[in-house]
Amino acid sequence: MKNFDEWLKETTARTEEAVCAYLPAEEGHQKTVLAAMNYSMKAGGKRLRPLFLGELYRMFGGTGREAEPFMAAIEMIHTFSLIHDDLPCMDNDRFRRGLPTAWVAYGYDMAVLAGDGLAIYAFETAAKAFAMTEHTERVAGCIRLLAEKSGIYGMIGGQTADVELTGKPLSEEQLDFIYRLKTGALLEAPMMIGAILAGATEEQVRTVERMASCVGYAFQIQDDILDLTSTQEVLGKPVLSDEKNHKTTYVSLYGMEKARQDVKALSEEAVELLETLPGEHEHLRQLIGMLVTRQK
Ligand code: IPE
Ligand code: IPE
Ligand code: MG
Ligand code: MG
Ligand code: MG
Repeated sequence: MKNFDEWLKETTARTEEAVCAYLPAEEGHQKTVLAAMNYSMKAGGKRLRPLFLGELYRMFGGTGREAEPFMAAIEMIHTFSLIHDDLPCMDNDRFRRGLPTAWVAYGYDMAVLAGDGLAIYAFETAAKAFAMTEHTERVAGCIRLLAEKSGIYGMIGGQTADVELTGKPLSEEQLDFIYRLKTGALLEAPMMIGAILAGATEEQVRTVERMASCVGYAFQIQDDILDLTSTQEVLGKPVLSDEKNHKTTYVSLYGMEKARQDVKALSEEAVELLETLPGEHEHLRQLIGMLVTRQK
């Protein structure tokens, strides 16, 4: 078996290729918005969500190409969430993925439209999978799931509570709701979609959802930790953004020590769930383990 670092490098490169293959051409009278969309998409990013999608598909025995449009789609939705998250009316941040944010580079109007554009184009892209498999019912189910996890019962729901409650003390229940939705939902969607497209059973998909939920929660706590402990050079986005916006975070509510312990406990729980699933998953196990110590 390949060593983990080599595997991660190769898998990220393959993921990058699949994602970039579906970006729109920058032409026509609307080319400014297309350029803004591609600017944010191509700025980089770890590509974790499409990577998880592709790897879960492979783990459950998928051998076709219909996961690829979904890989591009989930990264488009994630990038849309980041473009809007950075807007002056939201977190008001000027740096993302090592570059000026979309609204700084293209203006407030184009950044709103670029986010909208990516959100809708994600579904146009995902629908391309219908022509790539005979299991069209799986594709239909995945499109519904993608909508649910991205929308008012998923990421947008979480962002709504996050923004509305900014500057106010949060109850444990409110923080839990926000983290499960604003971040958890966009990790659950790709892992579940990878599994569904490859033909996983309903019970297996439910296990994948629980595993992804743990990964997502741990991921957001670690994001809060890094906001306090890292640097803009390493993260590619500003630090101390939460403090600037008077956000209650996992760290401000529970303290740094518990935050660190819970990232570890949640990723251990995710690995335990992973171990109950079929297929080869040593590299995925290491990837989930790495999220505990991730520095960006
Ligand atoms: C940032 O996500 C937003 C959160 C949900 C914490 P990532 O840390 O995955 O950002 P990129 O895609 O690598 O830029
Ligand atoms: C973002 O949470 C979650 C999203 C849905 C974009 P944050 O606001 O903490 O994400 P960063 O730190 O700006 O990436
Ligand atoms: Mg935010
Ligand atoms: Mg933010
Ligand atoms: Mg953050």
